Amino acid sequence: MAQAKTAQEKFSLEGKVCIITGAEGFLGKHYMEAIKQAGGIPVGLDSAGEPDFQVDITSEQAVKEAIEKILEKHGRIDVLVNNAAMNPAVGDANSAKMFAPIDDYPVEFWTKELEVNLTGMFICSKAVIPVMKKQAAGGVIVNVASEVSEIAHDHRVYNTPGKYKSPAYVTSKTGVVGLTRALAAQLGQYNIRVNAFSPGGVENPAMPKDFVERFGAANMFSRMAQPDEYNAAIVFLCSDASSFMTGHNLVIDGGKSAW
Ligand SMILES: NC(=O)c1ccc[n+]([C@@H]2O[C@H](COP(=O)([O-])OP(=O)(O)OC[C@H]3O[C@@H](n4cnc5c(N)ncnc54)[C@H](O)[C@@H]3O)[C@@H](O)[C@H]2O)c1
Repeated sequence: MAQAKTAQEKFSLEGKVCIITGAEGFLGKHYMEAIKQAGGIPVGLDSAGEPDFQVDITSEQAVKEAIEKILEKHGRIDVLVNNAAMNPAVGDANSAKMFAPIDDYPVEFWTKELEVNLTGMFICSKAVIPVMKKQAAGGVIVNVASEVSEIAHDHRVYNTPGKYKSPAYVTSKTGVVGLTRALAAQLGQYNIRVNAFSPGGVENPAMPKDFVERFGAANMFSRMAQPDEYNAAIVFLCSDASSFMTGHNLVIDGGKSAW
């Protein structure tokens, strides 16, 4: 009889083919590295930069073709981390219009953001499910949401009258949790686990110092997260360490939503 795995062994991603969308982004790069360090084979998808596969996740055809190519190359898909999103960020030169008050917020931004953050996630999940269904070992889907899947964004962090985080962002991230439950409820029977991951705000060199201080002050550690602080959580969710967990939203926000 095979010996039971130790707790540490359960965190291994040895030989597992793990797709990460938004792999070229700020956190995606860290997740690619963390998966590699755990023994996994990270495969990056992104519409920008130099990913393994350049693909716009809102195009069902483009995603299907990318998945076919990944299968041709690797023969299996064990994990999908749905991490890509439109995330209007402080310090981003192009984001000014995305911080408009809700009554001025353009419908085209709303539509685009929901399309990327929610529909794109659905499209990528839909493309890998038939592959995972055929695998005896099933598969894992991790849907990256945000602390704003649980709470509203506090616009006072901007200290600028009339500046607000996009309403579509909060709405899409709350929707990610609903999509996660819908997927989990259908896919447990195929040994496919689906969980959401809701990180708190991460400090980024482009952010003004006073913003970082105000944002950090809202959680129990009085600081923003550092970019590598979610790597272990991603490995936990992708690996057998979370083998009895599905339909869950793992919130890691420095205690912000518990306060
Ligand atoms: N950075 C944070 O503080 C923070 C906090 C909470 C949640 N999140 C979430 O974590 C995830 C990663 O955030 P990040 O800070 O790395 O964002 P980021 O903007 O740096 O990276 C997002 C990546 O997604 C890609 N992308 C966007 N639209 C795409 C499309 N249509 N097709 C394919 N790729 C597309 C972008 O090119 C980019 O590389 C996002 O889901 C974000 O909402 C981030």
